[in-house]
Amino acid sequence: MASLTIDNVTKSYGQTQVLKGINIAIEKGEFLILVGPSGCGKSTLMNSIAGLEDVTGGRILIGDADITQAAPKDRDIAMVFQSYALYPNMSVRENIAFGLEIRKVPKAEREQEVQRVSSLLQIEPLLDRKPGQLSGGQRQRVAMGRALARRPKLYLFDEPLSNLDAKLRVEMRTEIKKLHQRLGTTIVYVTHDQIEAMTLADRIAVMRGGELLQLGTPQEIYDNPVNKFVAGFMGSPAMNFVPCTLVAGDNGIGVEVTDGNGNPSWLPVPNAGRLGGYVGKQVILGVRPEMITDPVPHKADEVMVRHVPMQVLVTEPTGADTMLVTELNGVEINCRINPGYSTPVGEVVSLMFDMAKVVFFDPQTEERIDRG
Ligand SMILES: Nc1ncnc2c1ncn2[C@@H]1O[C@H](COP(=O)(O)OP(=O)(O)O)[C@@H](O)[C@H]1O
Ligand SMILES: [Mg+2]
Repeated sequence: MASLTIDNVTKSYGQTQVLKGINIAIEKGEFLILVGPSGCGKSTLMNSIAGLEDVTGGRILIGDADITQAAPKDRDIAMVFQSYALYPNMSVRENIAFGLEIRKVPKAEREQEVQRVSSLLQIEPLLDRKPGQLSGGQRQRVAMGRALARRPKLYLFDEPLSNLDAKLRVEMRTEIKKLHQRLGTTIVYVTHDQIEAMTLADRIAVMRGGELLQLGTPQEIYDNPVNKFVAGFMGSPAMNFVPCTLVAGDNGIGVEVTDGNGNPSWLPVPNAGRLGGYVGKQVILGVRPEMITDPVPHKADEVMVRHVPMQVLVTEPTGADTMLVTELNGVEINCRINPGYSTPVGEVVSLMFDMAKVVFFDPQTEERIDRG
């Protein structure tokens, strides 16, 4: 295993720059997840690391070795793509061993490796089948096994689970996490599934339009996003964005909000000191659905907690929680409610706002304005 350094990497196709200077230092053994909207350059970056694309500028290092100009076969990287191709005429065993065979690994050692990865991925009973005799999920495991049969310096996974159905994705996600815990491998992994990103990553890199917007632990990205885009990208249902005016009142700095019936409430803001310049101005309040709940007694006395009467527009039971849609300052917002709390549609109910973790954005630039 080795570290990976992506040093100011740019990539252009003709006049179009699709990577605009990416800098990421990935530690040995780290699980890094790349997320971002379709077309933002994730695969281009992966292919550049693998050597399947030439970069236009910058350097890529594995450990201390500059591999920017190295041929793909000399980079010692194993890669699993979304659309993996198994050799249809070879058995599972031969598919897994093939990469070792072309690297002239001796037969006994090849067999040992096939044994090791097939036990790891629980595909031992399938070793003598052909790919055509496997389900989609089993084929995906074989593709994974083929990559894992080697001990390369680095693994690259580009949306490896996106062709699988929901249940299998969850199973494979757990298996990949176990694999990483067991082998301590350095992994760069692309996904558009934010649960995958949150659960697997040591750190998440959020990209947009060929740029790296934020690099941090899942919790940092979730709790302390650098801008409205990152805030809205991670989390489901997404963070609520409420336009409001920051006001200085007798109790300090806060925001005024009005529910769908025109009832105003005042809500305190944390880190008010950082927001001084915005008093009297429009800001965007970012509040996650789980911070607006049914009233829970154990939080009632916290300084950042307020009870607000809100009209129920829609309820969406999910079993564990009920998502409640209401309106604040003219926009619909999602709240996460205990299913035991009565929320009849059309009625006004009391909801608890925990303002301790809210964030604020500039309405023009959409950048965070309260970040420490
Ligand atoms: N060979 C190519 N020629 C021209 N443009 C390309 C080529 N490959 C990718 N692109 C463009 O580069 C951008 C990034 O693509 P890609 O890395 O595949 O995005 P992602 O994997 O994040 O969805 C896209 O706008 C895509 O159209
Ligand atoms: Mg892609």
